[in-house]
Amino acid sequence: MTKVLTNRFHLKGRACDIDVYKETGGYQALPKALKEFQPDQVIEEVKKSALRGRGGAGFPTGMKWGFVPKESKRPKYVVCNADESEPGTGKDRDLMRYDPHQMIEGMIIAGYALGSNTSYIYIRGEYWYIKEILEKAIAQAYERGYLGKNILGSGFDHDMYVHPGAGAYICGEETALLESLEGKRGHPRLKPPFPAVVGLYGGPTVVNNVETLAVVPHIIMNGGEWYKALGTEKSGGTKLFTVSGHVNNPGNFEVPMGYPLMSLINNECGGITGGRKLKAVIPGGSSVPILNAEECEKVNMDYESVAAAGSMLGSGGVIVMDETADIFESTMNITHFYKHESCGWCTPCREGTRWLYKVFERMKRYEGRPGDVELLYDLADKILGKSFCALGDAAAMPVQSAIKKFREDFERRIKHNLVQIGKAAD
Ligand SMILES: Cc1cc2nc3c(=O)[nH]c(=O)nc-3n(C[C@H](O)[C@H](O)[C@H](O)COP(=O)(O)O)c2cc1C
Ligand code: SF4
Repeated sequence: MTKVLTNRFHLKGRACDIDVYKETGGYQALPKALKEFQPDQVIEEVKKSALRGRGGAGFPTGMKWGFVPKESKRPKYVVCNADESEPGTGKDRDLMRYDPHQMIEGMIIAGYALGSNTSYIYIRGEYWYIKEILEKAIAQAYERGYLGKNILGSGFDHDMYVHPGAGAYICGEETALLESLEGKRGHPRLKPPFPAVVGLYGGPTVVNNVETLAVVPHIIMNGGEWYKALGTEKSGGTKLFTVSGHVNNPGNFEVPMGYPLMSLINNECGGITGGRKLKAVIPGGSSVPILNAEECEKVNMDYESVAAAGSMLGSGGVIVMDETADIFESTMNITHFYKHESCGWCTPCREGTRWLYKVFERMKRYEGRPGDVELLYDLADKILGKSFCALGDAAAMPVQSAIKKFREDFERRIKHNLVQIGKAAD
C-alpha cells in the first residue's frame, strides 16, 4: 500500500531535523514549484489531484484556492488549522511531531500559489510541545532560505508564525479561528463572505487542515493525477485515520481512500478486542452519525461511500465499539462535550445542548420519563440546521442517529420500562 504522508513516521521524530528531512526527499517540491510552476499551475495541479480538505468538511482544496482573488488591496494569508480538537482524532499531532517540515513546505507552496507572504499555524494549546517542535523547524527553514525574503532567489517572500489556541473546540471552526487569531473571543463569523474572499484582518485567506497542507509537496513532486489515482475518482489520494476504542491495535493509519472499514479494523488494527462482536463505529470523529455493524460491513472509507451509508468521513477519527458498549452512555458522553464546548452565541445550540444533557442525566439514573427518547430526538431536531455554525449540527446528529439505530439502549433508561427488564427494585 502506497504511503504518502507517513513515510517518515518510523524515524520517530528525527525528521524534525531539516537535514534528515532533506536526506529523505524533503524541500525538493518547493524549489520545483518556484522554478517550474506559475502560481496558477500549482492550483491547477492541486485541482487535478482531487484532494479534499482533511479538516472535516471535505471541500475540494484546489477549488477553495481558486476562490482567492488574484488582486487584493489587503494582504492574503495562508492559515493552517492545527486546532485538532475533534474527539477521536489525533492524526495532525503525529503529522506535526514526526514530520513538521512536510507541512511547512506545503504551506510555503500554498503561499506561492495564492500570492500570500504570510502564514499562520493555529495550534491547539494542549499541543504546546508540538508548538516548540514547529518553531524549531520554522527557524531551520529560515536559516536555509526556505522562508523569509527572496526564497531560493525566486523573488518570493514568505513569513510563518505559530499561534496557540487556549483550549476551545469552537476555535477549530475556521471563522472562529480567525477571530481568535485576531485576538478576539472565538465566535464564528457569518458566511458568506467566506474566508477565501474576506478572512484574516479582512484579507483573502485560505484556511486548510494540517493533513491537507502536508499533501501539497507530494502533489508537486509526483503530479495531481498520480495522487488522485491512489484513491477513488472523487476522493483522491490516501487518508490518515485515527482508530480508537475496542480494537487490539489502536493508532493512526494511512490507507488509500476507498479502503474498506472492516479491513482497517481487522488488518491495520488487529481486530476487535477479546474477539468480541462489533456493535458500532463512529467513522469520522464525534460529530458524525454512528454506523451499526451491518452498515460497517459494507462501507468504504471515502467521502462518497461513507455518505451513502448515512454518515460522514469527517476528520477521520474512527471510534470502534464492541458488543459490550452502551450507545446511550457513549452518546451522553459526546453530548457532554458539545454542551461544554458550545460557545453560547446562538440560542438553539446554547440552550439545546444543555436541555439534551439534562434529559440524558435523568435517563442515566434510570429515571427517564415515558416520551424522553422522543424528547431527545425532538430537542436535537430543534438544533439541527437551526444553529449559527456547524457545531450545533455536530451536537444533534450523533443523538438522532444513535436513537434511530440503537433505540433499545435508550429505552432501557425509561423508568416506566424498568419493571419489564427486572430493574425496578434497584
Ligand atoms: C466546531 C468545528 C470545529 C472544527 N475543528 C477543526 C479542527 O480542529 N481542525 C480542522 O482542520 N478543521 C476543523 N473544522 C473545520 C474548519 O472549519 C475548516 O473547514 C477546515 O479547517 C478547512 O480545512 P480543509 O479544507 O483543509 O479541510 C471545524 C469545524 C467546526 C464546525
Ligand atoms: S452553533 Fe453553538 S458553537 Fe456555533 S455559534 Fe451557535 S452557540 Fe456557538
